Amino acid sequence: MNTVPAQHQRVLSGMRPTGLLHLGHYHGVLKNWVNLQHEYECFFFVADWHALTTEYENPGIISESTNDMVIDWLAAGVSPGASKIFVQSRVPEHAELHLLLSMITPLGWLERVPTFKDQQAKLKEKDLATYGFLGYPLLQSADILVYKAGMVPVGEDQVAHVELTREVARRFNHLYGREIGFEEKAEAAVSKMGKKNAKMYREYRKSYQEKGDAQALEVARALLESQQNISIGDKERLFGYLEGSGKIILPEPQALLTKASKMPGLDGQKMSKSYRNTIALRDNPDDIAQKMRTMPTDPARVRRTDPGDPKNCPVWQFHEVYSDDSTCDWVKEGCLSADIGCVECKQPVIDAVIAELKPIQERAKEYIDDPNAVKAIIDEGCEAARDVARDTLEEVRKAMGLG
Ligand code: TRP
Ligand code: SF4
Repeated sequence: MNTVPAQHQRVLSGMRPTGLLHLGHYHGVLKNWVNLQHEYECFFFVADWHALTTEYENPGIISESTNDMVIDWLAAGVSPGASKIFVQSRVPEHAELHLLLSMITPLGWLERVPTFKDQQAKLKEKDLATYGFLGYPLLQSADILVYKAGMVPVGEDQVAHVELTREVARRFNHLYGREIGFEEKAEAAVSKMGKKNAKMYREYRKSYQEKGDAQALEVARALLESQQNISIGDKERLFGYLEGSGKIILPEPQALLTKASKMPGLDGQKMSKSYRNTIALRDNPDDIAQKMRTMPTDPARVRRTDPGDPKNCPVWQFHEVYSDDSTCDWVKEGCLSADIGCVECKQPVIDAVIAELKPIQERAKEYIDDPNAVKAIIDEGCEAARDVARDTLEEVRKAMGLG
């Protein structure tokens, strides 16, 4: 039996458009998205408004990168058939929800988010003492809640933003999930489930509320999810009634922590555009070979006959990602004994990176040559996303006494 409510099975994630994607994005994020899309309903979007919070002086890069980024997603295997691929600024409901949530979000919650101070300190050359930048994580909350997403695949640095989202959702439900006559309406809804189901629902509810039985809560949720005879409004009441609160209008999401990518940059630090140590997904094979041939190696190997140690060499980290056991053994032995030279040692990883990127680059080329196809995919994704977002906003406005 499936115990997760349907809307909680929705996955949502976004990426800021700030340049061509590289191997770090592929191994750290995109491969994960590609796997998730076969299991869940996935929403992936270009966070262009988020990019604007830091690039507002230089917004050209955002629109340039948006299309390229979607092409790179598609090339990496994100499928428009399985996922909704769209652009944040084309779904204005994100902005409206951000505004409405801002009314109930205490300033302290935003000031306390670690990325706020960290990024200001890190990007000293930019003036980030702006209203928009303070609101960055709340905009992210709106991105998530507008689709009622249950799972948000993110890296470690973004977990605090999902945590804030949970607090904001809880506060929202607490403030606006209370309707006049909630208990009576909930009781009436229980009766609509039929005698047997109503009895089970009451038992599970009691078990959860009196004994904190989490299993009972799960089973009761599954029971609710499978009800065909009650309206969506009643279902929301009953989800809330289970936990003793009001109606759950905005469900709390969970961070799906993406393991830190083991993909090193060409210098052994984390691969990142700001370190200029990347291999872009679109780099051609000659450039890749050139970049890797000039990669630094263990500084102890001044002459070909000087032994080295893979531990001190960024090339070794590439072998750990790309090479099988026997190649890794060959590297370790050959390096420590100076039996192999660094040029020789690099060749298998050069070949492996080029081979990995070949099908990706072929697919990218098809999309680059057919801009209309890309446009159609984005248009369709935006429409599908808006349909969901519109429904949420209608509910949210009503709950807040608007319209
Ligand atoms: N802030 C995220 C990042 O910098 C991007 C992002 C924006 C996002 N909105 C989101 C990620 C919603 C997950 C869910 O990587
Ligand atoms: Fe690095 Fe390989 Fe050279 Fe050893 S032989 S220093 S692992 S490139």
